[in-house]
Amino acid sequence: MPDTHDSAAAHGASEGDRHGIHATLNLTRRSFMATGAGAAIAATARIPPARAAPTGIPFGGAIQFEYFDDRPYRQAFLDHCDIVMPMNELKFGLLQRERGQFDFSRSDTLVDFARDNGKASRGHAFLWHSTNPPWVDALNDERDTESVVIDHIERVADHYRGRLASWDVVNEVIAHEPREAGGPLRDTIWRRNLGPRYIPLAFETAARADPDALLVINDYDLEFAGDRYDARRAVMLDLVRQLQDGGLHVDAVGCQAHLYAHFKVDVDALARFKEELEGMGVAFIVTELDVIDFQIRGGVEEQDAAATVVVSDLLDGVLSGRPPLAVVAWGITDRYSWVDDAMPHEDGKPSRPLPLDVDLRPKPWYDAMKARLLAAS
Ligand code: G3I
Repeated sequence: MPDTHDSAAAHGASEGDRHGIHATLNLTRRSFMATGAGAAIAATARIPPARAAPTGIPFGGAIQFEYFDDRPYRQAFLDHCDIVMPMNELKFGLLQRERGQFDFSRSDTLVDFARDNGKASRGHAFLWHSTNPPWVDALNDERDTESVVIDHIERVADHYRGRLASWDVVNEVIAHEPREAGGPLRDTIWRRNLGPRYIPLAFETAARADPDALLVINDYDLEFAGDRYDARRAVMLDLVRQLQDGGLHVDAVGCQAHLYAHFKVDVDALARFKEELEGMGVAFIVTELDVIDFQIRGGVEEQDAAATVVVSDLLDGVLSGRPPLAVVAWGITDRYSWVDDAMPHEDGKPSRPLPLDVDLRPKPWYDAMKARLLAAS
C-alpha cells in the first residue's frame, strides 16, 4: 500500500493533521489548570545532561527479583551494565497490592543492589494499564482516582527520591492503533476515570515529589517503518508538545525498542522523530531493548543475523543527533525473558532476545552495539 506519508508532507500537512489526531488529545491548558499543573511547574524544557558513562553512552539492564538468587545472573548485570533497574518490582500492582499498603521490599533489594555496586538505577513505571491490582481496576470515581494517582506517585517518588535517575512517569498511553475510532490514547482505567488529564496529573505530581528525577514518557512501536508507526510517533510528539504547553517538563521520551526481527526499523523516521524532540528540549532513552525473533526461520546464526540488522538500524537512528541518555535492555540473558512466553517460535525453538545467551555468552550484535556506545558521546 503506497505510504501516504510523503504525499501529505509534500502538501505541508503537519504530522498530527496527517493522521487526523490533533482534535482528540485534548490535553488543553484548561485541563492542565484543572490539575494545577500550569501553575505548578515553570515551562522549562530541560535538556538533561546527556550523562555519558565514563566511556560513552550508558548501557543498562532490567533485573528481576525472582531470579535474584541466580548469582551468575546477578553478576552479569555488574559485569555489563552502568544502569541496573527493576523490571517489574516498581509497578503499581507490586508496590501497592492493597490500597494504602506499600511493600518496597523487593524493589529496595534491586535498587540497593544497583547502588551498592556503584550502578545507576531508574524507575518503571508510575502509571500503566497493566499490572494494576484489582482494587485499582475497580475504581470508578474521578476524585477518588485522582487521589489514588497523587498518593501513589507521591509515596513511591518520595521513597526513592535521590536513588533513581529517572522515572517512566506513564507507560504506553498511546493507543496501539492511534488512528482508530477510540482516538490516539489507549483506553485505560486512568483515562476512563480522569480523561486525558491523568497524564499531566502524573507528570505534575512526579515533578513535585522528586524534582531531581528525569521524567520520561515511555512507549513502544516508535521504531518501525509504516503508517501505524508514523502515527504513533506523531501522537508522541503531540503529547509532549501539549504537556509542555501546560507548563510541564518532559525530560525524555522512552523508546522501548522491543525489536521484531522480521520488521524494518525506519532509520530516517526515527532520526527525524528524535531530532524533533531535541528541538523541543526533550532527550531520548532506549528503555526496553530486546529482539523478538519468533518469525525468523533457521537456527542460531539466522536469529543472530536478523538481530544484528534491527539493532544496528535502531542504533543508526538513535545515535544520530544528540546521544541518547542511555540504552537499556529488557533483561540481560536469554535465560530469563518475557519474549518466549509472549511470542514463542512455532517449532518450540528458543528465542534469542537479549545481549547474552543462556550461558551468559555475549552475542555478536551485543559486542557491536557496545563498541558503538563506547565510541559515541
Ligand atoms: O512473580 C510472580 C511469581 O511469583 C508467579 O509464580 C508467576 C506465575 O504467575 O508470576 C510472577 O509474576 C510475573 C512477573 O512478570 C514476574 O515474572 C507476572 O505473572 C507477569 O505478568 C509479569 O510479566 C511482566 C510484564 O511486563 C507484565 O508486568 C514481564 O516480566 C515484563 O517483562 C513485562 O515488561 C513489559 C514492560 O513493563 C512494559 N513494556 C512491555 C514489556 C513486555 O511486556
